[in-house]
Amino acid sequence: MQMRLDKLLASTGRWSRREVKELVRRGRVLVDGAAPKSAEEKVEGESAHIRVDGEEILYREFTYIMLHKPAGVLCATDDARQETVVDLLPRELQRRGLFPVGRLDKDTEGLLLLTNDGALAHALLAPKKHVDKVYYARTDGTLTKSDCDAFAQGMVLADGLQCLPAELTILRAGETSEALVTLREGKFHQVKRMLAARGNTVTYLKRLQMGTLRLDESLDAGAYRALTEEEVENLRRSCV
Ligand code: URA
Repeated sequence: MQMRLDKLLASTGRWSRREVKELVRRGRVLVDGAAPKSAEEKVEGESAHIRVDGEEILYREFTYIMLHKPAGVLCATDDARQETVVDLLPRELQRRGLFPVGRLDKDTEGLLLLTNDGALAHALLAPKKHVDKVYYARTDGTLTKSDCDAFAQGMVLADGLQCLPAELTILRAGETSEALVTLREGKFHQVKRMLAARGNTVTYLKRLQMGTLRLDESLDAGAYRALTEEEVENLRRSCV
């Protein structure tokens, strides 16, 4: 399939179209071994050998973005009034129909995968796959070994929701506490509700990991980057 070079490179999420133009102008892009005359040149998407600064760039049908979601932004594709996670991405990526894989509450920060690969998203979210999600939580209230035991056994919440066994690792216990929570499912407000059931109010929540994908700590809140080939492959392998 023929497509414009700038569109193809921008679809990876690594460069904007303007940046591609600059890369081409500086001779840093090679298509089948030759420098293209313009960023708008048409290339064979699937078969062209494209290199940027010597690195081979593979055309991907789908786009995979890791966003460090900041607090205060809605985990949705669009909203009439509130800023959404998709609004944090540049135009080129907004046009690619990306959606968040799973939900984080408005006040939750951390790892969010955005993609237009419906099959991978579906597999990652399928209840039967039990893809682990790891959260860092700060709470008002102390945490003890009995809370860890309750998490491990699989709690039943006040509204009757039966939770799968989960892991609670206490990092610091006191009047306010810190912990890591690992869930194998993703029910509405689940971390907050499980900790509330143990008498703790969550004051800060950040997702650190989803399956094999870890939040890149070099990303500030609100920043994003494309997943590497290896990250995409590992995710695929973990849930197919
Ligand atoms: N659990 C919660 O309570 N909130 C989130 O955003 C994610 C998991």
